[in-house]
Amino acid sequence: MLPPLVQLTVNGRPLAVAAPADATLLDLLRDTLALTGTKRACDRGECGACTVVRDGRPIYACLTLAHACTGHEIRSIESLGSADAPHALQSAFAAEDAAQCGFCTPGQLMAAAALLATNPDPSEDEVIAAMSGNLCRCGTYPKIVRAVRRAAATLRHADPAGPERAHG
Ligand code: FES
Ligand code: FES
Repeated sequence: MLPPLVQLTVNGRPLAVAAPADATLLDLLRDTLALTGTKRACDRGECGACTVVRDGRPIYACLTLAHACTGHEIRSIESLGSADAPHALQSAFAAEDAAQCGFCTPGQLMAAAALLATNPDPSEDEVIAAMSGNLCRCGTYPKIVRAVRRAAATLRHADPAGPERAHG
């Protein structure tokens, strides 16, 4: 018997994907959809490397069952920008040298994108609180905080009244 279908939207694309009942969203993204920008590190909800955005909120894909995403909208790092047209967050991370090994960076960026979508001018403390679920073994935390605030300023300057800040 074929596994049941998960019906969800990933990066703006409606999909119906077969997945075993115990598959996680991380399995679905990386192994079925080949969206490998979302990283698997601890695989048990301790590090945030697998962070994606579901309906505007950051979640750990490794702790989320794929079938729990039926009817929901998922955004992964692949939706954020590209090498040719980076999102303001990606440009800011590069400018602040906030990625060292880079393994945590996709998750950091998605957590930051979710923050800026609801808070376009976060204080340093607000950034630290919003990113507290994302660990960085390279210890670039001060640079990450600066990068998120730099991106926020860039986005406010580019579009002071614009609602689309997270997924540009
Ligand atoms: S890989 Fe999901 S929290 Fe670490
Ligand atoms: S940049 Fe290496 S773990 Fe964060």
